[in-house]
Amino acid sequence: MANDSKKTVLITGCSSGIGLKIAVQLAKDPQQRYHVFATMRDLKKSGKLEAEAGETLNKTLEIRQLDVNSEESVKKCIAELPGQTVDVLLNNAGVGQVGPLESFSMDDFRKVFETNFFGVVRLVKEFLPSMKKRRSGHIVVISSVMGLQGIVFNDIYAASKFAVEGFCESLAVQLLKFNIFISLIEPGPVNTEFEMKLMEEVARSDFPGADAETIRYFKEVYLPSAHEIFATLGQTPDAVAKATVRVIGMEQPVFREQTNPLYTPLTALKYADNTGELSVRTFYNLIFNYGSLFHCSLNLLKCITCNCFRRRVMPV
Ligand SMILES: NC(=O)c1ccc[n+]([C@@H]2O[C@H](COP(=O)([O-])OP(=O)(O)OC[C@H]3O[C@@H](n4cnc5c(N)ncnc54)[C@H](OP(=O)(O)O)[C@@H]3O)[C@@H](O)[C@H]2O)c1
Repeated sequence: MANDSKKTVLITGCSSGIGLKIAVQLAKDPQQRYHVFATMRDLKKSGKLEAEAGETLNKTLEIRQLDVNSEESVKKCIAELPGQTVDVLLNNAGVGQVGPLESFSMDDFRKVFETNFFGVVRLVKEFLPSMKKRRSGHIVVISSVMGLQGIVFNDIYAASKFAVEGFCESLAVQLLKFNIFISLIEPGPVNTEFEMKLMEEVARSDFPGADAETIRYFKEVYLPSAHEIFATLGQTPDAVAKATVRVIGMEQPVFREQTNPLYTPLTALKYADNTGELSVRTFYNLIFNYGSLFHCSLNLLKCITCNCFRRRVMPV
């Protein structure tokens, strides 16, 4: 049972990656402010979380089953929570998809939306009545910079995160009236199993339905650039968890938190020109026309935003 003086937090998708790290960081909070319900769809995958939770297991961290795509599983999990509610709902579960659009079926697209968008909607809908009644609550969603800026060959994944952003932006205004906050956490590339799972799928696929030229661009231009972006700009899941835990601890939580400052200049392009031409053409040129400039700008970005440089130019 949760201790009444602690904030209760329910997190989805805690078998690996960012969700696992957030659960562990909150459970190990030095001020003991949280009681975590770390959920996963398959409890057979709980070993890694149990190991990292250490002695917080079954004290400040409890593991529960929850599949965001199953109404039954969500309702069962909520029914077993103390008071059938939580102070913080953290939507982390997500799936990726990368490759030429023509090589996926409509069912493949629906699966991405089912988890990344409708999974969030399902949980928010279930928790809202109790949060509204208590006039308090915090809903956190692990979105992505791809919810702000579409990226080539990630069409449906980006669309699912754009959908989540629109959903939360609309709700945020109404919910302030009930003293409920929503926060979108927007990581750039993060080195978790997410990327590995996608690359395994890509390696298995021969992209049926896509033309040879598109497949060539995907394999010879996109994939090496993506590897380079993850290697150069990628954050650790621990760093994303730390940023998320900071937002959860805020008295007035911010609506948006971009966790990776290296990515901010790229997402800023679209706000600098409201015709959209600047961002579309910049990405086009960087990827298809000026590969070496792309490579240099990645290293330049890393250099100008790195802490040691910042320390040197800041006044003392
Ligand atoms: N990695 C990145 O580069 C990156 C960047 C920006 C945003 N994000 C977002 O961060 C979130 C976490 O991803 P991650 O990088 O930590 O990847 P990850 O290690 O693959 O974690 C994804 C988690 O979601 C779970 N999940 C998938 N479908 C589910 C369902 N129907 N019900 C419950 N759980 C489900 C997975 O469980 P199983 O083990 O059972 O599959 C896994 O625990 C996602 O929303 C993702 O879109 C990731």
